[in-house]
Amino acid sequence: MFSEKKILIGIAGGIAAYKAAELVRQFKKNSAKVRVMMTQAALNFITPLTLGTLSENPVLLDLFSQEENQSTVHIDWARWPDVIILCPATLNVVGKIASGIADDAVTTTILASTAPVIFCPAMNKEMYANKIYQANQEKLISNGYHFVAPGKGELACGEEGWGRLAELEDILSEAKRVLFGDQALKGKKVLITAGPTREPIDPVRFISNRSSGKMGFALAEAAVMRGADVTLVSGPGCLKPFPGIRFISVQTATEMANQVAGCLPEADVLVMAAAVSDYRPKVSSARKIKKDDVGFAIEIERNDDILLKASENKGSRIHVGFSVETENEIENSLCKLRKKDLDLIVVNNPLEDGSGFEWDTNKVCLIDKAERVERYPLLSKSELADRILDKMIGLLKTEQ
Ligand code: CTP
Repeated sequence: MFSEKKILIGIAGGIAAYKAAELVRQFKKNSAKVRVMMTQAALNFITPLTLGTLSENPVLLDLFSQEENQSTVHIDWARWPDVIILCPATLNVVGKIASGIADDAVTTTILASTAPVIFCPAMNKEMYANKIYQANQEKLISNGYHFVAPGKGELACGEEGWGRLAELEDILSEAKRVLFGDQALKGKKVLITAGPTREPIDPVRFISNRSSGKMGFALAEAAVMRGADVTLVSGPGCLKPFPGIRFISVQTATEMANQVAGCLPEADVLVMAAAVSDYRPKVSSARKIKKDDVGFAIEIERNDDILLKASENKGSRIHVGFSVETENEIENSLCKLRKKDLDLIVVNNPLEDGSGFEWDTNKVCLIDKAERVERYPLLSKSELADRILDKMIGLLKTEQ
């Protein structure tokens, strides 16, 4: 993921410093080149030997060491990285950088660098909530620095609250966004649906389908990477949304329809990647239905078609639909494109190898409003998400 990218990790003196070792390992595993610099306080929590061994590079501790034998070491280190990650970022170091104080290797290098900087705060909940800290963080954000918000939970001091270092996975995702993202969708509100819906028969049974949500989640991640303001409405699944996405979890098609209706007036783009259940049981039993020897019948009724409904007040909004077909793919998908007034439809046949619900890949064709059919080879869902977004950006430009 980070092939050949140069990552400089700064470590400040907080208990979460031990997690920086694993962060270094994760970046190395993803083919990044890693260097580490530490404050004097960080040495109380973790050793340079550990970090030097994991990063396979010398660790910067001191700007004036005899060994370095040069007075501009901070400039060399400041020019080297593609991104700097301060992990953990303590109240003290955040305050110093926000005030322009450069009195050690870490603060001096960060202030001398033009590379993007990601702060990963970790501290006691009251320190994090402190107005002076919050003002410093705001000042840094308004000056273009990035922050990965801490999580809530048990803190090292035994208290509970906001201040735990973010998950390392989220820090890696933010680095990915900062390094590889662009701003092609900046200012655009993109509403995406994903996953299956579940239509309850009774408290333990439901009607659903095999959708994993992978395509919708990949689209949401790709849209965030391009600077969009993304809302993801998803049916049940076990995927974790990419950081920065507004995530709304639903169960039934009706819940999904309601959430989409609520977000739609604001949206510039609607992407219906969800496999919405077309039917639901007419009655959902409040108690578990017991078996008998006769069997039982479920009376089912139609769910509303969310895309069709959304087309009633479409205006200049771009609508992208998906079409799952196991025969007559193009013909049937063209009918959906016309009927639901779509700008783009993504067609796939789950019976094809490597295609469809649970795979990480998909083989699709795209049909646009002018009914041009473009066939794509087998692609990973994240590559495909990028191709779909390229099309969407083109459509948004023609609408402007
Ligand atoms: N869709 C929707 N609401 C529904 C059913 C489908 O918004 N109740 C959307 C899907 O999210 C997808 C598109 O409509 O973007 C096409 O869905 P698909 O299941 O392929 O087709 P259907 O229109 O449901 O028709 P059929 O099941 O007969 O193929």
